[in-house]
Amino acid sequence: MDERTRTEAKRRASESAVEAVSDGDVVGLGSGSTAEHAIRILGDRVDSGLDIVGVPTSFQAREVAIEVGIELTTLDETDGHIDVTIDGADQFVGADLIKGGGAAHAREKIVASATDELVIVVDETKRADVLDEPVPLEVLPDARTTAAAAVEELGGDPILRRAERKSGPVVTDNGNLLFDCDFGAIDDPTALATDLATLPAVVEHGLFPAFADVIHVGTTGGVDIVEP
Ligand code: A5P
Repeated sequence: MDERTRTEAKRRASESAVEAVSDGDVVGLGSGSTAEHAIRILGDRVDSGLDIVGVPTSFQAREVAIEVGIELTTLDETDGHIDVTIDGADQFVGADLIKGGGAAHAREKIVASATDELVIVVDETKRADVLDEPVPLEVLPDARTTAAAAVEELGGDPILRRAERKSGPVVTDNGNLLFDCDFGAIDDPTALATDLATLPAVVEHGLFPAFADVIHVGTTGGVDIVEP
């Protein structure tokens, strides 16, 4: 899939996914390039009269939502309840996801967990038979050495994510650091998710086992709607 076809596939998946949003909904606004298409399409719908409020999952999502005129709120103000969230993913197998390519997975997981219906938007390069992409791991800066050692003990290879056009590491929206942890093929995402969650240094990991309610997969010619 070349870049242009891929961009079209992301946009098609997003157009299909926004159909899940109804008047009056509280909508979780995901992060990344595919979710950005969805936020922009929702902005167009708001211009045409759709009445929603959005809960952004990142600085990026907030910025785009403001640009396209979506009214924003917080989990506090919605009593921790969101009707539908549209978000991207780095890889999926059934309802299991790896997220965090944009370092936003901590807030994405909070929003996803508060959501009635999690709608994932991806292009078909994200579909896999087994999860095997590196798992993003957000850690407290002071704990990076112990976190890396703990990941190695679990059989992973943690690489500190480096910033582009800035010396040093990526710093998340929450002020933390991030490891991309290669575990090879992940046969049991739920077990690894539990192991990672119990490490003292970890703020959040990018495994989202059994999270997706529906996945809109943009393909070369259309959209494949997967209900795991
Ligand atoms: C952000 O941290 C991620 O979880 C994104 O949703 C994920 O990386 C997908 O991004 P793209 O749609 O840009 O591939």
